[in-house]
Formats: sequence, structure tokens, C-alpha cells
Amino acid sequence: MTRRIVLVGFMGAGKSTLGPLLAKKLGWDFVDMDQRVEERLGMSVAEAFERLGEPAFRREEEAVARELLERTETVVAAGGGAFAQEPTRQLLQQGALSLWLRVPLEVAEARIGSGDGRPLAANRARIRGLFALRERSYAGADRTIEVGDGSPDEVAQRVFEVVLACRSARTGEGDTGCGT
Ligand code: S3P
Repeated sequence: MTRRIVLVGFMGAGKSTLGPLLAKKLGWDFVDMDQRVEERLGMSVAEAFERLGEPAFRREEEAVARELLERTETVVAAGGGAFAQEPTRQLLQQGALSLWLRVPLEVAEARIGSGDGRPLAANRARIRGLFALRERSYAGADRTIEVGDGSPDEVAQRVFEVVLACRSARTGEGDTGCGT
């Protein structure tokens, strides 16, 4: 049975909003990777980028991914870049059912707004470039769920149904691509 789920996807996909709703439906815990990095470093993500630099932030993110694999019955909201970092992606792919919450660029842009607190979202050109690059990494997730429309509750239900379908598929034969 799947014991960990990681939500991946671009900034503004709703990972941190949907994660707790999904965890509640499953009766599992919820952990936000960015929040864990902030706790470990004692500073915000924006400060970490500014004071320590992106490579240091990515190292911490990888350490958090490792830490999460010690847990069971946990839904994890990954930071938007976590799945684009090779070692972190490998850890998450191997240790969890990964779900790509796929959001259209226009929806992500509208949600990101002025990019406050998101150091890589400082301008539109950068957001668009990153978005195109990142799609290739997210495509490595076990399942893709379109999340551009609907209320958070509706989308959480959509995600929950994918998890249930995955679980029942696992009782059958063969490789279901449903993760750990
Ligand atoms: C990042 C996304 C952010 C956060 C950091 C870097 C990225 O997470 O980890 O600002 O590289 O896309 P959210 O997707 O939760 O905004």
C-alpha cells in the first residue's frame, strides 16, 4: 500500500493548499517541504536564497526529502523546484507515490502574482522560462492530474480519487506505476 504521497508541480499549482485537504481525506499527516527547510534553517525561503544562495537551499531541500522518507502515512507538498533537482527527485520518486499537479501557465502566473516570498518568480520572463523547463521534470511523476479549474475541495477530491484508483490497481497484477 502507498505510504507516502508527494505533490509536485510548478509554483501556484496549489500543492500546499491541496496537501492538507488530501491528508485529511486519507487520515494521514501533512508536511510542507519549504516549511521544513525554513524550520531547519531558521529563516524564510526568500532569506535563504538571499543569504545562503540557491545551492545551499537545494542541499537543505534534499536533506528534507531524505528526512521525509523516514515517515509513513504522510502527504508531502514539494517545493516547485524539488523535482527538478536530480538527487531530490530520485529520493522522492523512489520513496513515494508522486503526483504532478499540472497547472496551466496563465493560472500559475495569476496565483503567483507579484511573486512575494518566491525568489525565482521575480519577473514574468523568468517564470515562463522556468515553467517550460520544469514540465520535463514533473513528467517523471507517477501520475499527472490537471488542476487548473475547480475549488480546492473539488480538486482535492480529484486527487483523492487518483490515489484510491492507484491503491486498488495495486491489488491486481503487474507494475501499476503507483509508487511505494
Ligand atoms: C521554488 C518554489 C518554491 C520554493 C522556492 C523555489 C522553485 O516553492 O521552494 O521559492 O524553484 O520553483 P512553491 O512551489 O511552494 O512556491
